[in-house]
Amino acid sequence: MIHDPEKLSIEVTVDDSAAKANVSVSLGLIVTELVINALKHAFPRDRSGKIVVDYRSDDTKWSMSVSDDGVGVSSDPKFSKPGLGTGIVDAMAKQLDAMFTTVAGNPGTKVSITHS
Ligand SMILES: Nc1ncnc2c1ncn2[C@@H]1O[C@H](COP(=O)(O)OP(=O)(O)OP(=O)(O)O)[C@@H](O)[C@H]1O
Ligand SMILES: [Mg+2]
Repeated sequence: MIHDPEKLSIEVTVDDSAAKANVSVSLGLIVTELVINALKHAFPRDRSGKIVVDYRSDDTKWSMSVSDDGVGVSSDPKFSKPGLGTGIVDAMAKQLDAMFTTVAGNPGTKVSITHS
């Protein structure tokens, strides 16, 4: 899947907060799905780039995002049909009472899961 590991990097930026055990299990599944998406879709044809995973929280709110500086989600619905991954992330975000949003990163894509 990663043609040339030298061309892609993953950075994790987190504050020093913690997540509750039940939330962290779901966030683990979500982050796996989103990072795989970035690896699978964002960097075609040996394109190089960076994936950033961010998490921060306080007493009542938390948010996690996965951003990449790849090609972005295609505007042609033929190529960007929601698959199983979107269904899983959507269902887990609902279970966590969180908002799931995808925005263009210019370049790339940023997916956020926010509980407030
Ligand atoms: N980081 C990304 N960069 C570019 N396109 C993306 C990115 N993430 C998702 N997409 C687009 O959104 C579509 C839907 O993603 P989704 O995870 O639902 O399905 P999938 O990855 O194609 O299949 P599955 O998750 O079931 O293996 C993808 O097919 C792809 O076109
Ligand atoms: Mg997917």
